[in-house]
Amino acid sequence: MVFFLGLVIVGTSGCNASLPEPESPAARLYQQRCSQCHRLYGPTLLTPEMWAVMVTRMEQEMSRRGVAPLKVEEKQTILEYLRKHAYKPA
Ligand code: HEC
Repeated sequence: MVFFLGLVIVGTSGCNASLPEPESPAARLYQQRCSQCHRLYGPTLLTPEMWAVMVTRMEQEMSRRGVAPLKVEEKQTILEYLRKHAYKPA
């Protein structure tokens, strides 16, 4: 029964289904830290350079809203993940 419920939940969370390497620690951290204020954006939305700028801007949003700041390692892990899978023009 628990197994069945799990399937239903995974099956209906369609929004995040397209994240690359969804089971990796980096993807999980990204989901945890970056979906608190808005839906999760796919890494291919931005280029690697734009992600660096965006995550820094999000740190400002976090402090403005009193959300716990990203630790140095967390920022590094999330950025590495986003940049690895980012939009890369041919
Ligand atoms: C404290 C709340 C908060 C958290 C946590 C947060 N964001 Fe945001 N995010 C915002 C707000 C507010 C905006 C819209 C304003 C803006 O674009 O600056 C936004 C906008 C964005 C956008 C732009 C979307 C667009 O269409 O332009 C991206 C991409 C984004 N966030 C990524 C992230 C990532 C990556 C993280 C995790 C590191 C994150 N956000 C965590 C508040 C947050």
